[in-house]
Formats: sequence, C-alpha cells, structure tokens
Amino acid sequence: MITYKNKVWKEEMSIRLDVNHVMAKFMGEEHGVFDGEIESLMPEARDIHHQIKEKRDSGDLPFMDLPNQSVSEILEMAKGIRRWCDYFVVLGIGGSALGNTALHEALQHPYYNELSKTGRHRAPRIYVLDNVDPDQLAALMDVLDLKKTCFNVITKSGGTAETMANFLVCQEAMIKALGRENHADHIVVTTDKTKGNLMRVAEREGYRCLVIPDGVGGRFSVLTPVGLLSAAVSGVNVRELLAGASFMERHCHKVRIWENPAYMNAVIHFILDTKRKKHISVMMPYAHALRGFADWYRQLWAESLGKRSSLDGHEVHAGQTPINALGATDQHSQIQLYVEGPNDKVITFINVEKYKVPMEIPKSYPEMEGLSYLGGHSLQGLIQAEQKGTAYALIQNHRPNLSITLKEVNPFTLGQLFMMYEIQTVFSGGLYRINPLDQPGVEQGKVAAYALMGRQGYEETKAEIEQAEALDDKYILGC
Ligand code: PA5
Repeated sequence: MITYKNKVWKEEMSIRLDVNHVMAKFMGEEHGVFDGEIESLMPEARDIHHQIKEKRDSGDLPFMDLPNQSVSEILEMAKGIRRWCDYFVVLGIGGSALGNTALHEALQHPYYNELSKTGRHRAPRIYVLDNVDPDQLAALMDVLDLKKTCFNVITKSGGTAETMANFLVCQEAMIKALGRENHADHIVVTTDKTKGNLMRVAEREGYRCLVIPDGVGGRFSVLTPVGLLSAAVSGVNVRELLAGASFMERHCHKVRIWENPAYMNAVIHFILDTKRKKHISVMMPYAHALRGFADWYRQLWAESLGKRSSLDGHEVHAGQTPINALGATDQHSQIQLYVEGPNDKVITFINVEKYKVPMEIPKSYPEMEGLSYLGGHSLQGLIQAEQKGTAYALIQNHRPNLSITLKEVNPFTLGQLFMMYEIQTVFSGGLYRINPLDQPGVEQGKVAAYALMGRQGYEETKAEIEQAEALDDKYILGC
C-alpha cells in the first residue's frame, strides 16, 4: 500500500531545476542559451518582478496568496461527504477539472477506485467528467449508485455549456432517484460568488456552495476549492500541498533569475522559443503519477501564453506549443521524433529520486545474456536509467533539455510544482508582453457553442457561423 508519512517537509523536500543541457556550453551556440543572454534579460526581469509584486499587493494576482487560505470549511465538508458517499464525481472542464485529475493521479494510488471497491479505502471513488460525450456519461451512470453519489459541479463562470449540460443531466437523474426534496445534499457547487447561473440554481435548490476567490482564473485555480475539495474527499493532505506551494512562493520572491527557478525556467523557454526556434515545449515526467500534472501544464502554458495581441495592441501571435509525454512509455512513441526530427523543441524531464514502492527485478535467468543484466536492479533504477539514456541521446543530437527533480511525489513537492509553474507562466507573460490571465480564444469558442445551441442573444453569431459553414462538396470525400 502507498502511504504518506505524517511529517513536515521542508528544505530537504525542495524541488531542483537543472538547466545545464539547454546551455550553449553543452548544446552549442546554434541551439543553446548563453549566460549573457540570461544576464541581458535581467533589467526586464527586474521590471516584471516589480510589476508582479505591485499587482500582487493590489490584489490582482490572488493565486499567489492561496497558500495562506483557511481550508477548514473544505475539510469539514469533505469529512461530512466521506461519511455517506461512495462515488464523488467532479463535473467541470479545462481549469475546472485538470487540476483535480493532476492531484488525484499524483497523490493517490494508481488503482484507487478499484481498491475503493474492495473496501480497503474508506474514501469514495473519484471520477472527473470533463467532456460532454453522451456515451461516457451514460457509462458513468452505469457504475454510480446515485443514492451514494455526490456531484461536485465546478465552473468559475457558472455558465460553461459542457459543465452545465452534464450538470442538468446528472441533476435530473438524481431527482428521479431521490426525489426533489432529498437530492440537494448530493450536489456541491464550486463557482464564482456572483457570476453565472449556477449560483442562482444553487440558491434555488439549496445546494452547498464553495466560492472560487475573485480574480483566480480557471487554470490557476487548482489550489482553490476547485481542486481541494475532491483532493480532501479522497484523503489528500491539502495542508501539506499548500505548505509546498507557500514554500515555493516564498522562494520566488528572489529577483535574480539565477536564484529563482520559476524565472529561470521562464527565461530559458522564452529565449529558446524566440531566438532558437524551439516553438514546442514537451513536458515528460518519468513517473506515472505525474501524467496528469503534464496535462495540467499543457493547458496552463497554452491558454496563458497563446495570444494574438501584445499588451500594447500589436499582433504578435505569441506562445510555445506545449506537449505532454510520459517516460518511459513514450520513449517508444515520441522520442525518435524528438531525437532526429525537427530541432524545434525543448524537453522538460520531471524526475523522481525516490518512488513510493521499492521493487526489485528478479534474477530469473542468469544464463541468458540479454536478460540477466536486469536481475538484481530495481525498477526505479531502470526508469531512472531510461531517463538518463533519453537525455543522453538528446544531448548527443543538440536537443535542449532540462530536468526538474522531486525527492518524491508527495503533497509538499506537488504544491511546489504547481506554484512554480503558475509563477513562471505569469512571469513569461511579462517577457512576451501579453496578458497571461485571459483567454479570448476560448471565449470565442464558448460563444460560438452558445449560438449554435440557440441561446438567446447570440442570433447574430449563429447566422455568421452558418454563413461561414457553406462548404464546397468537392472537398468532401467518402467511400
Ligand atoms: O483556464 C480557464 O479559464 C479555462 O480553461 C476554464 O477553466 C474553462 O474554460 C472552464 O471554465 P469555467 O470554469 O468557467 O467553466
């Protein structure tokens, strides 16, 4: 069984960023970064640092203050839910779902739900529904016992079509199963305190509500009730998670790029993207537990930095394309491309020093050369060697790569990772001179969906879309 020690993690659990293999010293001048290039960004970095500080002081970057929030209400609610609930279902999408999955995959048993079934966990099984595929929802309904199910509907705007549609379907099923008067205890709403319809529905139906703090956007909301309730329901130590985030946040008060991992990682990616044509950023954790974290990163980097306009109104089309991969699995799927294909990527490995479970490879066939070399090593040793081998191949081919090392995957180290990447993203927004906190492209798609579904007030958009959809049959092929 996987357990976490109940102790306070401090410096010995700090995560480590190693950028050796993006530097010109190792990568050569065509593909690597020079110390001088980092130094020359120092004045700009100082300005961005002060802007971040000012914004934070005036309450415009509230995600940085999340580590200091009180979690008593969340913990109390989670405790109550655990008493009766066997199935806890998150309904959300994008920033209102990816953090939940990242937390759950990183900090819980990989087969958590299956073990739950056997009664070895006293916590409810956890599901995150972040699509509107009818087959998926119907299949989920097949496994739920609605009398023992709690739906946590999460939407910051309180109106996202996918989440609201799933909610309406689940709510109706719940009312059918339990009756209108009894269903309210089975739904918890996490949303903005005023915006959108969800809060109005919650007030009318008497649902319990958790409020997403003002100014914290979806992809920066994992450490709000958005991510914390499902984590607490499954038994994650959310205080340790926040302690890790706080530890990193304090570390990122340093103005010098060389002392601040979030700034250094931002600067490295910025130089590689804008000066060395590394327009793709691959995150490749060598731990299955961090697969969901890489998904979370993909959204954070894409939605925050992918922008048409700069702050002063110029068309810049900024943004690096983030890709997630998993070591060692994707060595047998992606690495051929990364080593020999276009040299347009920077690869971030996330390494783990100590996996939760030690596992030795048996010395089963000592006489068989080509097999016997594995015997006596550990699986941990093998996955770490795989990572080193991949890095070596990349280095030989002048492909910039860097690593972030966690002593182990636990709430404290994960809290640091979340905070580091959030600060890095906001700092990168400063380097690209774009707004990393908005998402006009996403909103455009949302509005189009409202229009196509016949929402009042969107008639003009609907007409425009239908006009644009006049396709030419000659480009449509079928068998
Ligand atoms: O980061 C973001 O702002 C988006 O990805 C949102 O999280 C996503 O669109 C869902 O929005 P909402 O939480 O309003 O339903």
